[in-house]
Amino acid sequence: MKLQTKVFPNIEALSGGALEEMLRIVRQAVQRDGRSSISLSGGHTPEKMFALWTQGQYRNATPWESVHLFWGDDRYVPYTDPLSNYGMAKRLLLDHVPIPAANVHPMPTEGPDPDEAARAYAAELRSFFGTDPPAFDVQLLGLGGEGHTASLFPGSPALEEREAWCLAVTVPATPPQRLTILNQAQTTYFLVAGESKRQILRAIAAEPDGTASRYPAARVRPAGPVHWYLDRAAAGE
Ligand code: 6PG
Repeated sequence: MKLQTKVFPNIEALSGGALEEMLRIVRQAVQRDGRSSISLSGGHTPEKMFALWTQGQYRNATPWESVHLFWGDDRYVPYTDPLSNYGMAKRLLLDHVPIPAANVHPMPTEGPDPDEAARAYAAELRSFFGTDPPAFDVQLLGLGGEGHTASLFPGSPALEEREAWCLAVTVPATPPQRLTILNQAQTTYFLVAGESKRQILRAIAAEPDGTASRYPAARVRPAGPVHWYLDRAAAGE
């Protein structure tokens, strides 16, 4: 499949480039709709972007009062756990910017029943987006070494799900219990950095176009464009 890629010299440049593009879309959405919604990803790749976002030009270019942050996946652990995607964003970003608390929508990840938590998050999405399927203005995604994204691993039955807005999933990684949503954005950015991602990127690019790929990241088919932002190490020559 043909990936729409943009290659940056390193993760700093990639993070800045993605932020600029994302904030342009966010400002347009706020002008149009009075608010904007972003679905954040987890893992290590967005750490640099979140840190950068707290600084000068990016912080000042963000209409914080009108920006709503959601998560595309999270690990079913308390927010204080180092593996929590929300916890990472809180430490690096949310604690340092003037976003109203009501605009931050973490996945509930502490109750006894993950299925119940998935339904609660779906209800939260429904009350934000109304009766339409959720459509974030921007969705950030990452790529795992075997092609996983947003806690959707190869072979996951969740890949066949068409109805639920949020699902509890069990994955072959730590921690195994996760919540996930997918394919719900106008514009998607995959942020992929580091040499360890080069091989899987090649494999995904070599996949035939179609929704049956064994790589969950290749099956991301939201309504709008999917951009792959790579650093030189991930892209190769
Ligand atoms: C997950 C993560 C996912 C992340 C990838 C890549 O599916 O477990 O929450 O959102 O994007 O795992 O992670 P790295 O950026 O750390 O390689």
